[in-house]
Amino acid sequence: MEAKKIRSTFIEFFQSKQHQFVPSSPIVVKNDPTLMFTNAGMNQFKDAFLGNEQAKYARVANSQKCLRVSGKHNDLEEVGVDTYHHTMFEMLGNWSFGDYFKKEAIEWAWELLTEVYQLPKDRLYVSVFEGDQDDNLQMDQEAYDFWKKIVPEDRIIMGTKKDNFWEMGDTGPCGPCSEIHIDLRSEEERKQVAGKDLVNNDHPQVIEIWNLVFMQYNRLSDGSLKELPAKHVDTGMGFERLVRAIQHKSSNYDTDLFMPFISFLEGKSGKKYGQDEQTDIAFRVIVDHIRAISFTIADGQLPSNNKAGYVIRRILRRAVRYGYTFLDFQEPFLYELSPLISTNFGEIFPEVKQQQEFIAKVIQEEETSFLRTLDKGLKMLDQIKADLRAQNETVISGKTAFELYDTYGFPLDLTSLIAREGGFSLDEKGFAFEMEKQKNRSRAASESETGDWVSVHDDEGVDFIGYDFTEAYSHIIKYRVVKDKKGDKYQLVLDKTPFYAESGGQVGDTGYLISESEKIRVVDTKKENDLIVHFVEKLPTDPSLRFSAEVDKGKRSLTMNNHTATHLLQSALKQV
Ligand code: ALA
Repeated sequence: MEAKKIRSTFIEFFQSKQHQFVPSSPIVVKNDPTLMFTNAGMNQFKDAFLGNEQAKYARVANSQKCLRVSGKHNDLEEVGVDTYHHTMFEMLGNWSFGDYFKKEAIEWAWELLTEVYQLPKDRLYVSVFEGDQDDNLQMDQEAYDFWKKIVPEDRIIMGTKKDNFWEMGDTGPCGPCSEIHIDLRSEEERKQVAGKDLVNNDHPQVIEIWNLVFMQYNRLSDGSLKELPAKHVDTGMGFERLVRAIQHKSSNYDTDLFMPFISFLEGKSGKKYGQDEQTDIAFRVIVDHIRAISFTIADGQLPSNNKAGYVIRRILRRAVRYGYTFLDFQEPFLYELSPLISTNFGEIFPEVKQQQEFIAKVIQEEETSFLRTLDKGLKMLDQIKADLRAQNETVISGKTAFELYDTYGFPLDLTSLIAREGGFSLDEKGFAFEMEKQKNRSRAASESETGDWVSVHDDEGVDFIGYDFTEAYSHIIKYRVVKDKKGDKYQLVLDKTPFYAESGGQVGDTGYLISESEKIRVVDTKKENDLIVHFVEKLPTDPSLRFSAEVDKGKRSLTMNNHTATHLLQSALKQV
């Protein structure tokens, strides 16, 4: 059965049980401060569970786009390394809002899996919540008794709070759950070790496919549980895993959900999937990540340096770097997968089809800029290694690795990989220390938010002429917005600047940018990551024009420090 048919069969099965099909909610969450991305099908129904809102339908079914790369449910590091985790995945779900409860949820799940999809009963296991003292919760006897009627007791497993009490986040609706696991190992392996012993043990062939949550409580911010006004059902089935089980594959990536993408990459790279572990990981990372990136862009989240945008940028860079290192892709390649996203998912999620061109363009631009960075970072690393060799050193310091990461967006795992290839090691503890320092700094600065740079003219470096001149004709290379409580300010970088940047107690120059039609006040000049940045009160109406940049002269003579004076003296002496 093809993936598309498996999905529609799920929906039709629940429609036949009076469920209303609803479309997936966006994968990017805009109105819930506890979440960045949709991490479960139930997110869009949170208010109905909590009793804040009346559910529109008593029974609902759908396929929800989910992303688990931040917060409580975060699978990013496993993705691609194993064969059954994903960043973006589809969660098939059926819901009852104060309508049916455990009995129907359990019976219908079993009917669909074993009678409609015909998964073998002797490969399925179910789990039940064993209770928890801290939360003063009893074992879920009710669920156990319903399961007992349809499953032999030796296939029912008792589970702890970690596996069998589902919570959306630190707070919010929650309740005991029953999971359904499937053992996909060969007959021979199954004879040697009982599947039951491998459930919830990270075995790649014995995996959870469906979670039936019986929503009964609200977890409050003080950690306590409060009974919900009514009882509900929230189920979530991992679509990619279900497809794999039905198509008899040993990896989610071998199904028709991912194979078209893998085949494309094989053709483009000239490498084959299934022959080398490292290369295989790269194939899987890319075909997984392209879905996450495309779906989030389609829902309006562009890659950026902040919050959700930064998560997307990191996922994209992880894909580019795997392609670069293991599939020899030196040029943008990810965006070429966009048409496949549209043809494979455009029916159920029309937004990826409608926005295909836009998605491809955003991805291509991101790739182009990161590949440039990657290239620069690699050259820097070559230099660092050469310097260390000259000093007979073998360890790349945490500080250096952090600088590469922070200034050039160079991922630690890549630095580490290249270090090892060259016979060097990396001080990861030192890196973690620098990272912590950075986090503290940004926590302190979190009152303001900085936008992305917008390029205006080609960046061929900044010509600082402030030692000799207080005026220049300049173009703006790029600008960005900085928002804080006081309002919006803008930073811009000039190709040629007479403005002296703040340093060592020296106050940064102020002055004007003047065009034929306007005069813009430069309120400060600072150095940021070795860049001379000018703060202006407003953006020029046309930033692409040429400006006359003029330093406030009276101020400059007052604030000129020794360094400037020495330099001026030296150039004066040269002229003599
Ligand atoms: N909300 C449940 C889950 O995400 C079904 O596993």
